[in-house]
Amino acid sequence: MTDSTVTGVTSAVSDKPRNPQTTRAVVIGCGHYLPERVVPNEAFTKTLDTSNEWIVARSGIERRHFAAEGETTSKLATRAAEAALANAGIAPESLDAIIVATSTPDLTFPSVATMVQAEIGALKAFAFDVQAVCAGFVYALANANALVVSGQAKRVMVIGAETFSRIMDWTDRSTCVLFGDGAGALILDAQAGFGTSDDRGILATDLNADGRQRDLLYVDGGVSTTGTAGYLRMQGNQVFRHAVEKLAQTAEDALAKAGLGAGDVDWIVPHQANIRIIQGTAKKLGLPMDQVIVTVQDHGNTSAASIPLALSVAATEGKLKPGDLIVTEAIGGGLAWGAVVLRW
Ligand code: UT7
Repeated sequence: MTDSTVTGVTSAVSDKPRNPQTTRAVVIGCGHYLPERVVPNEAFTKTLDTSNEWIVARSGIERRHFAAEGETTSKLATRAAEAALANAGIAPESLDAIIVATSTPDLTFPSVATMVQAEIGALKAFAFDVQAVCAGFVYALANANALVVSGQAKRVMVIGAETFSRIMDWTDRSTCVLFGDGAGALILDAQAGFGTSDDRGILATDLNADGRQRDLLYVDGGVSTTGTAGYLRMQGNQVFRHAVEKLAQTAEDALAKAGLGAGDVDWIVPHQANIRIIQGTAKKLGLPMDQVIVTVQDHGNTSAASIPLALSVAATEGKLKPGDLIVTEAIGGGLAWGAVVLRW
């Protein structure tokens, strides 16, 4: 990918209404980082009443990465940011904004985004975190898109980075086998579009929340309650039920906003929580699994990092081609959920 600016739109000829003023947030680079330590399912059978067979059958997870001691979320985020800058071939000083989606920041404040800003030397960028748990990256992408289309920023780095291993209760088999650590980053650039669904870049977003469901997935500590970081608590089968119902709906709603349907989609890049949720959503959308990017077997559930990790892995493997239509969708604690439709 190149350091392109407001030209070079690869739009096919279309009879749809055109608005030549349209600014699109186009992906010009991506990158990811996974901690070195890989933990297979078998590692849990030493201390818990669980098995590789149960974990694979119920979740699709085979292994996950855990951060080393001292390897904080900002360090993972910085490595992913550096990889994305190299992939895009741009200088950090050209970034106008950095948004980090995370629920596991290094400190209560300052934000992880400001730490990344200093580490990579993006000193012209404003920086802030978004916290929407597993839907965090979708929320962050939607916010980045709003900054770009409103003219408040021309070039935005959007990162999902998590160290969920820090909030695991290692005695709770129903949660600690599911999560992993990692980071992924995308760089969005303001480019001119025609206002049609043939444009490259973000075409539509759909965000939702239902705070009445907060007891289904939460962390039992925090600054203004216990004064501790706390541990993740989840009623997995209840979250599962909401996920299957809500993810296909938000994907369809986002596609409809873009004037598109499931038949136009080249790739679903879903939040990687559970292979059965991923399969169920693809089925509801009427799309085969060979159009779905799946990394859950290798990464586990990395919360806000899972979508940018999956996008970057798929790009590295050469699966995503310029012009491909991608739908990302995610749900997590809150509940918060949503989808983004973008043309790569
Ligand atoms: O990313 C944020 C959103 N999160 C999600 O999307 C996660 C959604 N939920 C899920 O992925 C699934 O619900 C789980 C993978 C968490 C669980 O799968 P499930 O098929 O819904 O199982 P379950 O919770 O209904 O539990 C079935 C049984 C229970 O035993 P009983 O009550 O039937 O005797 C659990 O105690 O499996 C038991 N169990 C385990 N057994 C072996 C729970 N965890 C384990 C384990 N090993 N690790």
